[in-house]
Amino acid sequence: SKDWNGIDQVMLRTPQGASARVSLHGAQVISWRTDRGEELLFTSSKAIFKSPKAMRGGISICFPQFGNCVSLEQHGFARNKIWTIEDDPPSLHPNDSLGKSFVDLLLKPAEEDLKFWPHSFEFRLRVSLASDGNLILISRIRNINGKPFSFSLAYHTHFSVSDISEVRIEGLETLDYLDNLSQRERCTEQGDAITFESEIDRVYLSSPKCVAVLDHERKRTYLIRKEGLPDIVVWNPWEKKSKAMADFGDEEYKQMLCVNAAAIEKNITLKPGEEWTGRIELAAVPSSFCCDD
Ligand code: BG6
Repeated sequence: SKDWNGIDQVMLRTPQGASARVSLHGAQVISWRTDRGEELLFTSSKAIFKSPKAMRGGISICFPQFGNCVSLEQHGFARNKIWTIEDDPPSLHPNDSLGKSFVDLLLKPAEEDLKFWPHSFEFRLRVSLASDGNLILISRIRNINGKPFSFSLAYHTHFSVSDISEVRIEGLETLDYLDNLSQRERCTEQGDAITFESEIDRVYLSSPKCVAVLDHERKRTYLIRKEGLPDIVVWNPWEKKSKAMADFGDEEYKQMLCVNAAAIEKNITLKPGEEWTGRIELAAVPSSFCCDD
């Protein structure tokens, strides 16, 4: 189907009725629903579905940078480009296809893009919905350049939550983090689980393979399982910054939490011909579950 601007979208479904919707604009996942039809990703009521910007919500791909370190747009250009569907991508592991509904997307730099970031690459993204409703994103980035290049990457994931004051994250306690609110100063997490009472914008370093976001009120836990992605970004703009964002409602910070699996602290470097893979699997489970299940 098409979105408001005529950009193609792909719908994934499981036989049980779970679904996901992916836009070719940015390869952004714009909806992920349980088999009971409950939406799990946040989308702002003020989101702007218009090129070239990524809309506020869902899961967007930050590449080739997270933030604005090099002179490219914030969070890189991948989320602002139109990706293409690839019918027959180079082989993945058979388990990555078995029992899943999926789409393979591809981004290659246009001549024009090479002026800003002079590195030729192929970025393949598979978005899959497993039969249990889990959402899996597998990124494969290949250097097809004559020279090495480096990048950082994040799956900018906006989870829908009942009320931010009822939410906590488990798995990041005692880790070091870079605080984006104070020039990326390096700090150490002191508390137990992470809870929210003000603006937060941090990059937690060397995080475990699984991190849990617990929503007490909704009795739901999001599990983020990841491979190849050592860092976790935690972001909530809170009251003041929400008011300053044109495409975000003043009160919406209460219903949203960004927890982004990422590779940020240490850039990934690819030699000519090399390929890198980074994978996340998101699950929405009853609150009795945790990362060990
Ligand atoms: C977060 C960053 O992931 O994304 C924040 O940590 C940033 O620093 C936020 O403000 C939103 O970025 P953007 O470019 O989508 O408005």
